[in-house]
Amino acid sequence: MFPLDFPLRILEKKANPGERVLDPFCGRGTTNFAARLLGLFSLGVDSNPVAVAITEAKLVNAKVENIVKEAETILHEVKVDALPEGEFWQWAYHPSVLTALCKWRKALLEDCRSAERKALRGIILGALHGPQPKYSASYFSNQCPRTYAPKPRYALNFWKKHKLHPKPVDVIEVVRKRAERFYAYQHESIGEVKLGDSRQIGTLRPQNSKIKFHWVITSPPYYGMHTYLADQWLRLWFLGGPPTVEYRAVNQLSHKSPSDFVKDLATVWNNVAALCESKAWMVIRFGSIPQRKIDGLQLIRDSLKDTPWQITGIHDAGSASNGLRQANSFLRQKSQAKMEHDIWARLE
Ligand SMILES: C[S@@+](CC[C@H](N)C(=O)[O-])C[C@H]1O[C@@H](n2cnc3c(N)ncnc32)[C@H](O)[C@@H]1O
Repeated sequence: MFPLDFPLRILEKKANPGERVLDPFCGRGTTNFAARLLGLFSLGVDSNPVAVAITEAKLVNAKVENIVKEAETILHEVKVDALPEGEFWQWAYHPSVLTALCKWRKALLEDCRSAERKALRGIILGALHGPQPKYSASYFSNQCPRTYAPKPRYALNFWKKHKLHPKPVDVIEVVRKRAERFYAYQHESIGEVKLGDSRQIGTLRPQNSKIKFHWVITSPPYYGMHTYLADQWLRLWFLGGPPTVEYRAVNQLSHKSPSDFVKDLATVWNNVAALCESKAWMVIRFGSIPQRKIDGLQLIRDSLKDTPWQITGIHDAGSASNGLRQANSFLRQKSQAKMEHDIWARLE
């Protein structure tokens, strides 16, 4: 996930009122949220249902009080017959928290059409697992890394070794705090998000198929990082998936070889070009995983070669080490910081 500041500063400085923004790998909708803050229309596309649900939550118009009321009403009205079974679930959440999660899950799977419910779903996905608080809770789970869903066997060993039992959490307070953070200041939303594969041009078309985009600000997956679904298995469970880790990858760019990856990326850049105004700008934040010994920057250069996009500048974006230390305390295979670059290209 790139920081909000990245797309926000670009659009704030350079985009004109009324211009439109596209992110073909929108992840958690950072670009879309930045566009919303500036009153610009945006479309986000991602093949991961978790990413789409989180982006959707960032694009709805909902009031804090209504979101909290919806959360409370569901807890009062919905009954659940059974909780997910097994040691992992007993250690991951306090029984009262797991019951609340199961009630919300059931209700939101039955109906998630209103803005309040979409907002609530996004808030719960964001709070599902994370670090234990020093003062008041902002996550529902026992101690977890911030971004990756814990793998059951490893998590259990960790919790048992450190005698970390799940604590009761004021779940409504967590929802309220997060709702206040994201929805207290309303900017009218004019964005869209779609679940799909950006290699298919149809996926990238907005509802009004006549409009074209002036900005593309995006961050494709790094070469070799294709385990998104397993890393998000708990969030996928909340969206209706099974209560166990899934090692599936759906509609992700090919990571079979650097040339397959470059070919897939080129397809996306060509698709995007077909939907942009001439002289549109594209800014790609990209890095590489040190272990893969592949030059990420060269992959991006190669992927743009046979497309109408001309590279105009490459800037060092520093290293993406934030949050790694905390995640590393939990992981067997430690991650290293990644060097990142911003590639600017113009549609010729
Ligand atoms: C590095 S993340 C984007 C992060 C995003 N900039 C943010 O701030 O959250 C890359 C995203 O590309 C998505 N993705 C990978 N292959 C895709 C494809 N073929 N079509 C659409 N999305 C894809 C992944 O699911 C992932 O969410």
